[in-house]
Amino acid sequence: MKISQSFIEELKYRNKIDDVVSSYVDLKRAGSNKVGLCPFHSERTPSFTVFVNTETFKCFGCGAGGDVITFIMRAENLEYVSAVEFLAKRAGLEMPSDNEYKSELVKRSRIFDMNREAARFFNKMLYDPCAQEARSYLEKRKLSEAAVKRFGIGYAPKSFDSLRKHMHSLGYRDEELKEAFLCGKSTRTGNYFDYFRGRLIFPIIDNFGNVIAFGGRATDDETKPKYLNTSDTPVFKKSRNLFALNFARSACEEYLILCEGYMDVIAINIAGFPNAVATLGTALTSDQARIMAKYTKKVVISYDNDEAGQAAAKRAVPILSEAGLEVSVLKMKDAKDPDEYIKKFGAAKFRELINGSRGKFDFLFDTVIKKHNMDDPDGKVKAAKEICEIIAGIYSSVERSVYIAKAAQRLSVDEKSLKGDVDRIRRRLGRTENERQMQKIVSDAYGYSDRVNREAVGNTRAARAEENIIGLMLLRPELADKIKKGEYELCADDFKTSFGRKVFEAVEACEGKPDIGIIGADFTVDEMSRISDMQRRRADLAKNDETVLADSIRTLKEEKNSEGSGDELADALKIIQTKKNRQ
Ligand code: CTP
Ligand code: MN
Repeated sequence: MKISQSFIEELKYRNKIDDVVSSYVDLKRAGSNKVGLCPFHSERTPSFTVFVNTETFKCFGCGAGGDVITFIMRAENLEYVSAVEFLAKRAGLEMPSDNEYKSELVKRSRIFDMNREAARFFNKMLYDPCAQEARSYLEKRKLSEAAVKRFGIGYAPKSFDSLRKHMHSLGYRDEELKEAFLCGKSTRTGNYFDYFRGRLIFPIIDNFGNVIAFGGRATDDETKPKYLNTSDTPVFKKSRNLFALNFARSACEEYLILCEGYMDVIAINIAGFPNAVATLGTALTSDQARIMAKYTKKVVISYDNDEAGQAAAKRAVPILSEAGLEVSVLKMKDAKDPDEYIKKFGAAKFRELINGSRGKFDFLFDTVIKKHNMDDPDGKVKAAKEICEIIAGIYSSVERSVYIAKAAQRLSVDEKSLKGDVDRIRRRLGRTENERQMQKIVSDAYGYSDRVNREAVGNTRAARAEENIIGLMLLRPELADKIKKGEYELCADDFKTSFGRKVFEAVEACEGKPDIGIIGADFTVDEMSRISDMQRRRADLAKNDETVLADSIRTLKEEKNSEGSGDELADALKIIQTKKNRQ
């Protein structure tokens, strides 16, 4: 969906960024820019900067950045189109009536209607004789009638057209059903078919009560895949929604329980904790973390007990922390997931588990200790080293000494020598101005350094070249023009990382002057921060002419033709090593 470029220009002209931002942030002048306390993470000294000239913002603390539209997307937790609408209202601009936007709105409300009707249909079918198997499965899983009611659980019959027939009778067409992901179309025969068949249905509901998607679980434990889910549609992005947030958001002043599965959330809810949510079949995203941070201060990660679950928990910790959330991790024994735990031991024991959940450093210690053989001196030394690196990355010295004492106890080594090691690491990495770098090194070591462009880790040189090219295109429209006209023999296929490629394609598709406000529809707010950085970083440099562009293109092509090691962790460690050698 695209809103016309001229409308976006007008919109941005009438919504000056410093003006818009100042209703959220107390801005002080600093030279030609303005600074304030970042609204997206907690800080005591201002690192949130508004660049009045370029109409962009950047927080040097948490990395958020972009233009006025991205700002509103973040601040109001809105999708691109809704953020544009928000700003249009603010400036008293009428959304253009004849463009795709209006039809987009109509389409959205029609999908909501379709989903609501489908949810009703599925729920009714649960009581149909054909749902016998599904009902006995619910019984087996101890999902009561109360759970069915609360979550609007339903059943999709084992048929290719029962939902379609019902929806046709209400006046909906196959093409629309397909767009809502309620039916699919065979590429071979061209026939439409019900997407969910023979599955228990869990509706996913947003904070306004709209049914935005469905999860469909097989009615036994053999059928593969276990779940089928709605893919992204005009009303649903799985990376920006959470299952059961509609219940949890008004019950999570203290904390939210973050689970892996729908089944866990339902079991936890029924056991008397309405403050549970789950991601939707993907790893936790920073968007989801930010959404949680709007409603609560603390998240208790309550993932499955298996290796995959614990690894996912480890990846979730920094994502949640970065959103300013306090994090702790549940330590479950003798059950594979919260659902099973509650069934085996009851709600009271589960509450005890929550009260006894580990803080994030205890959890990280545990994962380090688990990795090494602690009976072997070598293993113990390695574990101690890793733990020292983690502790060295903590900003507060009080916190550091608390964790040093704890670590000394757990490793049964001398506290003083641990402290000596931590201090040495901190010295080696430079003191205060390197806090951030330290944090980054720790996260590099854990392999989650670049979540926006994951491929950048093993392809630093290519990624830098790509960012230079895109930055230059945004900064100097005439260079973008030349690229478009083919003067540089550069095309999307030359890009090595898929993120770089996607951004390039979007910038290239801009009709007139490329602008991040126009491509915003296709990217998440975190991606927008990165794209805005590409432009700003070039703007900070003195030289931005065609030789820089030509150089970057040459580098990119060289890199594209050479093979990366493909081993992200090895590459990350190499980066750390070179950084260390430079100190
Ligand atoms: N999931 C998915 N597709 C699959 C498997 C899982 O989308 N093939 C997603 C679902 O959102 C699911 C979550 O990952 O809820 C966690 O998976 P899992 O633990 O396997 O499912 P549960 O909901 O916990 O179901 P159960 O207790 O029956 O295993
Ligand atoms: Mn599970």
